[in-house]
Amino acid sequence: MIKTLSGTPASAYSFGTMQFGGKADDRQSAAMYAMCRDAGINFFDTAFVYTDGRSETILGQLLAHERDQIFLATKCAGDGWGRKNILDQFDQSRRRLDQDMVDLLYLHQWDSEGNLDETFETLAELVEQNRVRHVGVSNFAAWQTMKAREVARKCGIEISVLQPMYNLVKRQVEVEILPMALSEGFAVCSYSPLGGGLLTGKYGADAGGRLVENDMYKARYAQGWMHRTAQGLTDLAAQIGVSPATLAVAWAARHPGLFGPIISARSPEQLEPSIAAITFEMDDALYSEISALSPAPPPATDRLEEA
Ligand SMILES: NC(=O)c1ccc[n+]([C@@H]2O[C@H](COP(=O)([O-])OP(=O)(O)OC[C@H]3O[C@@H](n4cnc5c(N)ncnc54)[C@H](OP(=O)(O)O)[C@@H]3O)[C@@H](O)[C@H]2O)c1
Repeated sequence: MIKTLSGTPASAYSFGTMQFGGKADDRQSAAMYAMCRDAGINFFDTAFVYTDGRSETILGQLLAHERDQIFLATKCAGDGWGRKNILDQFDQSRRRLDQDMVDLLYLHQWDSEGNLDETFETLAELVEQNRVRHVGVSNFAAWQTMKAREVARKCGIEISVLQPMYNLVKRQVEVEILPMALSEGFAVCSYSPLGGGLLTGKYGADAGGRLVENDMYKARYAQGWMHRTAQGLTDLAAQIGVSPATLAVAWAARHPGLFGPIISARSPEQLEPSIAAITFEMDDALYSEISALSPAPPPATDRLEEA
């Protein structure tokens, strides 16, 4: 169980501050932080690489008055592991956050050249020094997670939290990661529940946003079927009288293998429908109807005739 320093369980929904200091200025960032707190969110996610450090700096300022009530996560070494890189980046993160300790430190992604022993020895040192309370991994495949856990355990620490991508058009985690999490007791905090904005339905109407402004996101959500799924979700949302964003987030949150989704936005207005997902009740029939809007990924094994 992941808890704040004061002993309160971390909220299942967390808020990702990737837009703080970028598309969201100081005022908007503060307003979104307050909205999250009002909605019961005490879990905030940032990373060394977000907005050249401004995300960590702004988040550090916003949570300073209530540090013990907040579960604070950041990430490091997305550009390659190595003891020096991890320690240098984490040091900078702590300075920007103005914190001695973070509740959760993720490796931002797998490094195929990286040395697992050195990496987890370094993370174990940070845990030993009380600079990190929990260790997580992001964007790892299931086999990479299990391999890393073995090394982490050898170093005397656990991998507690996984941070993969998960939304209605990115469902790969249903095959291995989420069943593994249920079996092995990892908490999964998934990112991009709105598909970077695709599942708000706004791209049917020539809107601006990440999927037209950012080549990486444009490529990630380029396939025609993804846009048809977004349209299907928008049509269904109109029938029900709710925002498609609320349905998208509530759908992503409902998988039993998930601890909770990381929601995000660039403004309080954008954030509203994602916050509404927290209290939206999605019954089995609606969950199945939404699930049917996109192809379920094929199972992990090919011997299916007898299943
Ligand atoms: N570990 C990793 O590698 C990784 C990667 C990505 C994210 N994350 C974490 O997960 C968090 C959430 O990810 P995400 O930002 O990709 O989540 P998301 O919920 O899929 O996308 C959020 C984006 O959708 C758009 N949006 C949100 N609400 C909207 C609304 N009501 N109407 C129209 N557009 C709306 C905004 O982008 P525009 O306004 O620009 O269109 C917003 O920034 C991040 O903040 C970060 O903490 C981690």
